[in-house]
Amino acid sequence: MIQRDDQTAERNIKSDEVSSPDEIRRFFSENTDMFSDPNQIMPALMDGKLCLEMIASNAVRQHEQMDRVLDLGCGGGIASSVLLDQLRFARGLRPKEKVDVDLTLIDLSDDMLKNAEALIRLKTTGKMTVHCADIRDAVLPLETYDVILCSMVLHHLRDEREWLDVFLNLHAALKPGGSLFIYDLIDIVNEQVNVDMRERYSDYLCDVVDEAYRDFCFEHIKVEDTPRPLLWQIEQLQKVGFREVDVLHKHQIYAAFYAIK
Ligand SMILES: C[S@@+](CC[C@H](N)C(=O)[O-])C[C@H]1O[C@@H](n2cnc3c(N)ncnc32)[C@H](O)[C@@H]1O
Repeated sequence: MIQRDDQTAERNIKSDEVSSPDEIRRFFSENTDMFSDPNQIMPALMDGKLCLEMIASNAVRQHEQMDRVLDLGCGGGIASSVLLDQLRFARGLRPKEKVDVDLTLIDLSDDMLKNAEALIRLKTTGKMTVHCADIRDAVLPLETYDVILCSMVLHHLRDEREWLDVFLNLHAALKPGGSLFIYDLIDIVNEQVNVDMRERYSDYLCDVVDEAYRDFCFEHIKVEDTPRPLLWQIEQLQKVGFREVDVLHKHQIYAAFYAIK
C-alpha cells in the first residue's frame, strides 16, 4: 500500500488557479510550431539540449536492443527524435537510415501529435501508435516498453494522487528492467532558494533571448505549471516500486533523472 503524504493541501488550492487540460490543449495547439522547433523552445529550457542528449545516450547504453518506446506528452517529438538519432548511431547505421523501433506517442494536442508523427516517421521503420489522450487517463499495456520518455510534461500534473497514479501506471507499463527518463521543470522546497533560483533563471532568459521572452516564460509557468521538487519525485518513484532512481543533471529549476524498474 502506498502512503500519500498530506503536504499537498496548499498545492491543491494552487491547482485551482492554473490551466485546465482543455486550456493546456488549446495553448499547445495554438503554438504547435513554436513547441515543435528546438531552436525556438530550447532557449527556454535550462540545459535542455544537454539533458535530452544525456537521456538518449543513457537510454541507448541501458537498452541498445530496445524495440518499444513510449513518449508521454511527446509534443512535436523532439525527445524521441534525439533518442532515435543516438540509437541509429549506436547501431552503426548511416545518417538517413531508419532504426526499427516501435514508438507510442501520447499527447493532449492532436496538432502536436501530427508534427511528432511526421518527424518520427522519418526515423523508424517500426510501428507507430498515436494516442490523443490525457496522460492521467491513458490505459497503457502492461510490461511493454523498454524506455519511457517524459520530457517537459509531468509538471502539468496537479494533486499528489495524479502524480502517484501516473508513476504507478508508468512502472506497470515498463518491461522488467525498463527505464523511465524524465526531464522537467522542478519546484524548490526552500522559499529563499526558490527566489534565488528564479532570479537566476530570469537573468538567464534575458541573456539568451530578451526581457519579453523572459516575461512570456514566467507568465506561462505561472498559469500552467505545478512542478514538484526533485527529491519528492524521486521518493514517489521509489515508493511505486522502481528499484534504482538517480539524477543525471540538475540546473536551477530544471532536472533530468531516471528510474529503472
Ligand atoms: C512543453 S511541451 C513538451 C513536448 C515534448 N515532450 C518536448 O520535450 O519537446 C508539453 C506537451 O505536453 C502535452 N501535455 C500537457 N499536459 C498533458 C497531459 N495531461 N496529457 C498528455 N499530454 C499533455 C502538451 O500538449 C504539450 O505537447
